Amino acid sequence: MIDYGLLAAQIESLAEGEDNTIGVLANASALIKEVSGWFWVGFYIVNGDKLTLGPFQGSPACMSIGYGKGVCGTAWERGETLIVDDVEEFPGHIACSALSRSEIVVPLKSEGKVVGVLDIDSTAAGTFTTADARGLEKVCDALSRLFL
Ligand code: SME
Repeated sequence: MIDYGLLAAQIESLAEGEDNTIGVLANASALIKEVSGWFWVGFYIVNGDKLTLGPFQGSPACMSIGYGKGVCGTAWERGETLIVDDVEEFPGHIACSALSRSEIVVPLKSEGKVVGVLDIDSTAAGTFTTADARGLEKVCDALSRLFL
């Protein structure tokens, strides 16, 4: 089990005093991947009516996702964290890698508005729990200041 209190504090300190958003998100994705071992960890950033690929760790991924599309675009539209136990069961799931079996997407919010998402894929089905959702929401809170 990941110590999310510690992880959020580490990410908070990575972000402290920094205005290099890309660098901080790159470090955050590296740290989350390192402590979890999950297959793909990265960010998509709101850019007009699309999410565009941001810093990530893992295999090459799709560059752009529309509002309401895939798991990421649906989490953006709903403004809430989505856990998908089996990506094949999620209508409209966008497969960036055939190895992904389950996924969690957490909206990154700044002043209540979704400015991006944290997307994480696992090669095993049913990886993500509500404890991961609450923990990763803390992590995203620690990053929201970058988007003020
Ligand atoms: N599976 C995502 C697309 C992004 S990749 O998993 C990195 C989706 O359905 O939105």
